[in-house]
Amino acid sequence: MSELFDSYRSSYGEAVEGSIRFSGLRHDFFLHAKAELLRRLIVEQDLRRGNAGVRALDVGCGVGSLHPHLTDVFDRLDGCDVSEESLSRASRENPSVAYSTCTTSRLPYADGMFDLAFASCVVHHVPPASWLDFFREMRRVVRRGGLACIIEHNPYNPLTRMAVLRCPFDKDAVLLSARKAASLLGQADFRDVRCEHFLLLPSARPLAGKLERALAGLPLGAQYACVARA
Ligand SMILES: C[S@@+](CC[C@H](N)C(=O)[O-])C[C@H]1O[C@@H](n2cnc3c(N)ncnc32)[C@H](O)[C@@H]1O
Repeated sequence: MSELFDSYRSSYGEAVEGSIRFSGLRHDFFLHAKAELLRRLIVEQDLRRGNAGVRALDVGCGVGSLHPHLTDVFDRLDGCDVSEESLSRASRENPSVAYSTCTTSRLPYADGMFDLAFASCVVHHVPPASWLDFFREMRRVVRRGGLACIIEHNPYNPLTRMAVLRCPFDKDAVLLSARKAASLLGQADFRDVRCEHFLLLPSARPLAGKLERALAGLPLGAQYACVARA
């Protein structure tokens, strides 16, 4: 896996753009939607606890494409990945983020270090036999009362399927449904698991956001987020 994404260190964004070009949307549109979802999560789930800062971990952060969108969302952001080459680009482009390489299935962090651990479009690149261990590691590094957020492709959305088919690094991807992700989070000792589908409408306007949230329980959006409490 590290070799695959090492080879996309300079062309990751272009590969994603190529796979979604048919939709008329840019990669930034998707990154912005994910950053807004994480921003909303912190407020709605009361993660800040008074004035305490929020320390977050992006598991499988790749070249750090999401990080320029998160500069004012967390007080401290860490990112880790199996691809060292991706991380060296990420740290050049995002000097305020602390990056570490994952060399084993154990994340390189102490227990309970983070208020939030999230993984965006990573689990479908992890072999299914390792999914539960992946979620258990996220659980280990999140403090009690903190959150995990799994953002994944919605396998029931035909446009998502088309984008995955067109994406050169998704050849071996195994998509998992929100129901499966929720079940794994439960098995990994998370509680209060809830999932929402998003990226349904090609607009970032507030009205589109309201409509999307009203329909979030239905498996319609291009992606979903499963959020759970440690
Ligand atoms: C499609 S990219 C997503 C990158 C980033 N999260 C984003 O949304 O732009 C998937 C990333 O997951 C990383 N990855 C795959 N398996 C991993 C694992 N077990 N632990 C950490 N990172 C992993 C890959 O190296 C790759 O950078």
